[in-house]
Amino acid sequence: MTQTATPSAADTARESAFEAVIADGGYIEPKDWMPDRYRKQLVRMMSQHAHSEIVGMLPEGNWLTRAPSLRRKMTLLAKVQDEAGHGLYIYCGAETLGVDRHELVDQLHAGTAKYSSIFNYPTLSWADIGMIGWLVDGAAIVNQTMLAKASYGPYARAMIRICKEENFHKRQGYEICATLAGGTPAQRAMAQESLNRWWWPSLMMFGPSDKDSPNSAELMKWGVKRKSNDELRQRFVNLTIPQGQALGLTFPDPDLRYDEATDNWEFGEIDWDEFWSVVKGHGPCNEERLEARRAAHDNGAWVRAAAEAYAAKQRAARAAVAASPRETRRRS
Ligand code: 3HC
Repeated sequence: MTQTATPSAADTARESAFEAVIADGGYIEPKDWMPDRYRKQLVRMMSQHAHSEIVGMLPEGNWLTRAPSLRRKMTLLAKVQDEAGHGLYIYCGAETLGVDRHELVDQLHAGTAKYSSIFNYPTLSWADIGMIGWLVDGAAIVNQTMLAKASYGPYARAMIRICKEENFHKRQGYEICATLAGGTPAQRAMAQESLNRWWWPSLMMFGPSDKDSPNSAELMKWGVKRKSNDELRQRFVNLTIPQGQALGLTFPDPDLRYDEATDNWEFGEIDWDEFWSVVKGHGPCNEERLEARRAAHDNGAWVRAAAEAYAAKQRAARAAVAASPRETRRRS
């Protein structure tokens, strides 16, 4: 029978200090002691989040050369660049937990890391770019506004900055949808057809229902998640339905109905088989997305090598100056 070592007084004191910060709604910082499990959960969530931002550039990138006007192209370009920055920002946050981003990126390319299921759907029309901004970034804002209060300091602070940019993303997407919905019958039909494809996958972004979420209880105990998957999903639905109705669009859910008593929009059952199939790598674009990321990584190897060579040269030049007789005299 394996003897579990009895925790020392120091261990118990560290654990209570950690729990006290969490209970107070405070922040755990990189140099603070934290349970290994807490660290592991954060690395898991933050790497998935960072991967989602990077892979999320691909569906929209598909329309950069086909945007209907220079203004739309510039706006989309700015949004895609923001997403790249969000990914790098969150990789930096993950690195404060002692992981190396190259390891995380290798896991993504090996297909062993998760990223948001939503990015495994194709962008078939310009209206999809509007729906991604309005629905996908809208869902991300609901989730990330909650994460801006997460107990891990670097993650929460990253979310505060990212949410500001997400609001621009959502507005530009909603404006595209409003333009199409108020345009010609063909444009309106394009917007409706796109909503029919993106609505349910957007609800899946919030994860499995609470009863099927193996991570939520622990994440909520530790104040990483302040609300459950279902609570956030419901908040997103309540916010989004009136926005769609204002555009005169119809949501593809015959069970949708407003419940006065709860002030919630009740919605139909999510196709969890579809959700888990996409999460497990069998969505419409999973392979294409990973191929694109692997190719971009390989094609970018020369940029990384050049940057590393330049940095090494700079270090050598600084070291030479530091060792020069004149510098030695100056310091003595
Ligand atoms: N896509 C892919 N995998 C998903 C998923 C989704 N939509 N929802 C859940 N999963 C996975 C989880 O990662 C977990 O698998 P794992 O244990 O192997 O990691 C499993 O399904 C069970 O789900 P849980 O509910 O137990 O997992 P979580 O408690 O981690 O909750 C989450 C899932 C709500 C996505 C949470 O991880 C989270 O909030 N992550 C950070 C935010 C994020 O990643 N957002 C993705 C979108 S980013 C984005 O949209 C960018 C914007 O700029 C457009």
